[in-house]
Amino acid sequence: MKRAAADIRNDSSARSSRWEASVLDPTPQLAFAHPDGESVVCLEPGPGPRAIEDDEFQFEALSDIAEVESWRKEINRPTTHIHKWWAQRLGTVFRALTIGAFAPSGANVFDLFYKPVRIPSGTVFDPFMGSGTTLAETVKLGAKAIGRDINPVAHFLVKCALSVHDRKAILETFRAIESDVADDVRSYYRATLPDGTQADVLYIFWVKTVDCPSCAASVDLFGSQIFARHAYPKKVPQAQAVCPHCGGINAVHVEDREAKCSSCRKSFDPGAGPAKGQGATCPSCDHNFPIAKTIRASGNPPAHRMYAKLVLLPDGSKSYHPITDEDRALYAKAERALAKRENAYPVVAIEPGYNTSQALGYNYRHWHEMFNARQLLCLSILAERIRGIPDPVLRDLFTCLFSGALEFNNMFASYKGEGTGAVRHMFAHHILKPERVPLEANLWGTPKSSGSFSTMFEGRIRRALEYADDPFELRIAGKGSKTEKVFGLSERIGAPVAETYRAFANGKRVYLSCGDSGSTDLPDGSVDAVITDPPFFDNVHYSQLADFFHVWQRHILGAGGYREPDTTRSDREVQNADEGGFTERLAAVLRESHRVLKEDGLLAFTYHHSRLEGWRCVLQALMEAGFGISTVHPIKAEMSVAMPKLQAKEPIDLDIILVCRKRSCMKTHRWNGDLWGTVAPPAQAQAERLRASGRRLSRNDVRIIVMAQLLRQISRSPTMESALHLVDTANGETEMLIDRIHAAGGESKSNERATERT
Ligand SMILES: C[S@@+](CC[C@H](N)C(=O)[O-])C[C@H]1O[C@@H](n2cnc3c(N)ncnc32)[C@H](O)[C@@H]1O
Ligand SMILES: [Zn+2]
Ligand SMILES: [Zn+2]
Repeated sequence: MKRAAADIRNDSSARSSRWEASVLDPTPQLAFAHPDGESVVCLEPGPGPRAIEDDEFQFEALSDIAEVESWRKEINRPTTHIHKWWAQRLGTVFRALTIGAFAPSGANVFDLFYKPVRIPSGTVFDPFMGSGTTLAETVKLGAKAIGRDINPVAHFLVKCALSVHDRKAILETFRAIESDVADDVRSYYRATLPDGTQADVLYIFWVKTVDCPSCAASVDLFGSQIFARHAYPKKVPQAQAVCPHCGGINAVHVEDREAKCSSCRKSFDPGAGPAKGQGATCPSCDHNFPIAKTIRASGNPPAHRMYAKLVLLPDGSKSYHPITDEDRALYAKAERALAKRENAYPVVAIEPGYNTSQALGYNYRHWHEMFNARQLLCLSILAERIRGIPDPVLRDLFTCLFSGALEFNNMFASYKGEGTGAVRHMFAHHILKPERVPLEANLWGTPKSSGSFSTMFEGRIRRALEYADDPFELRIAGKGSKTEKVFGLSERIGAPVAETYRAFANGKRVYLSCGDSGSTDLPDGSVDAVITDPPFFDNVHYSQLADFFHVWQRHILGAGGYREPDTTRSDREVQNADEGGFTERLAAVLRESHRVLKEDGLLAFTYHHSRLEGWRCVLQALMEAGFGISTVHPIKAEMSVAMPKLQAKEPIDLDIILVCRKRSCMKTHRWNGDLWGTVAPPAQAQAERLRASGRRLSRNDVRIIVMAQLLRQISRSPTMESALHLVDTANGETEMLIDRIHAAGGESKSNERATERT
């Protein structure tokens, strides 16, 4: 249920260039004239409560906009989506947060959201910048932005996203790459059809095979002989099935349990296959065996067999065909060509870890083993060409594009089917899950491809640059009506990026660095607001997954500086090693944030967690670092379609914005322990406001609202020991309160809204 967005477009490009002169004026004024007559609202850092600390902060209306953004994040905030990153937050939320952190108490943040707001003398620091959501919003608001991330892949993405880019040179470089290597790459994805037509191959379908431990026959790990179905099978029930007897490709009804192969005339069950759950049955001898264990015992990564291809016909239509000798010969040619290339790809071992253990269990011991020989060959041709780009900014940008294409062009990717984006990328599961029926895509691509280098140039780079030139916000124009894009509110994105604080202080507006935010080169009291999003106490270990990209980026750009090590893992990364480790590392970053933050500055961040430990850690880290919680607001979380949330029994659709201040500037008080008198009323009120706006709350949504209000009370305790004691003792009663607020909404079908909306 996605709404099309209409454009509200004024002549914003002319306007933003005319603004630049005023915005860079070192003496900020309260408001300066907007070329259309509307005044630019100039906010300044200052003492006293801020709008984000007001109870009236319009989290319901902002959640609605955030939700619309979440449906198509990559379209609505393309600048920060030029490359994969995990847990990418919603720009809407961070724009509102930044405005609210600088606007004085009493200001209407929702109104300001659609005003041309500028914060020329404000400096915002994000110590966990990830893909740069906070920073892009900061730049749009004309404030100075400092970002740091421990992961080189994140730092590289943000550097590419926020730098100044020469549009003409980018297009010329793309055309030059195309003319140098596209034909070569595409020549490995060609086929002759039965009628003699030459066609481009869009996708090649592979299946993992394993030797039967009893009779040694090679067994295809198909769970179903149907390998291609429509995303909406009720509407389009035709599917494609491969005949288990002769390999013929047959069009079948998706629910057929019996089909007769048009090639060999034998019958088969399209919905069945040798693999079922964790085991497989050998079609030759009927022996049943466990899949993972058998693969592990073989000592090698699993073998694959190609069995079908989807080709693009000269008239623009697509058709499925079986694999022929010509296809096999072409693949063998790619293998020989790869063998002749020197240093064709990075050879780096995969280290054990929570997110890598499943792949290691299938004997994938090196990152390059996740690709087949033809993919490695084509990647190698493209990588070498990109390495030769003389201009470093262009080389970085095309390396970023190349790296982004990797997640769609490997043997962990799979087919989503027709009527949708075709390629399911490898990180759909947040772990490296070996795929039984992988999909190989044409790396250069055709105009009908998904996940290819050329289509991603259009879909990611060009779209990002368009947004950077003319950023927009989304606005819901009344109930049930269309969403509008509102242009002309922001500065262009694109600034010279400083690599040290000294360079930043000498007049740059963006400073990015890669490293542990537990220690920085920022002077004491140098930033007005820390606006961030720490890793949650959960199991996404960013660096274990990011290594997949890191080894290729290093292969192209060379080792040196932060790219030296084989892995992006660091023992300073804030992640869920255990409760103590997580708290200690988070506290270190918050302590550093406290040091660099001005006395009257704000720390604001988003967080959610379904378990008590997740909240206990945050409270302890905040208090150890010298912060107390001033205000908490619920807000729409970013994961409306991502897998992990849909898998959770009690989905969390909300994040909490925690607004914190230095405890030295807050009045401490001993909480009286009266949950019903102090925590219940504001939690109830927030839940009711969300419901009144049409949002259903799961029990976990209610839980995070209650936990946040509890933490807010407790964080003002005179000592940390007393605070932690209070959290633990409040636990039983908290559950009662959660039940009561949840029951008040009558929301037994807890994830109704999530499924309704996605
Ligand atoms: C939840 S993500 C931030 C996502 C970001 N808000 C976005 O929208 O893309 C947390 C980030 O913290 C980074 N990180 C973890 N430990 C860190 C540390 N000690 N210093 C700096 N960054 C760290 C991770 O690499 C990750 O990118
Ligand atoms: Zn057998
Ligand atoms: Zn057949």
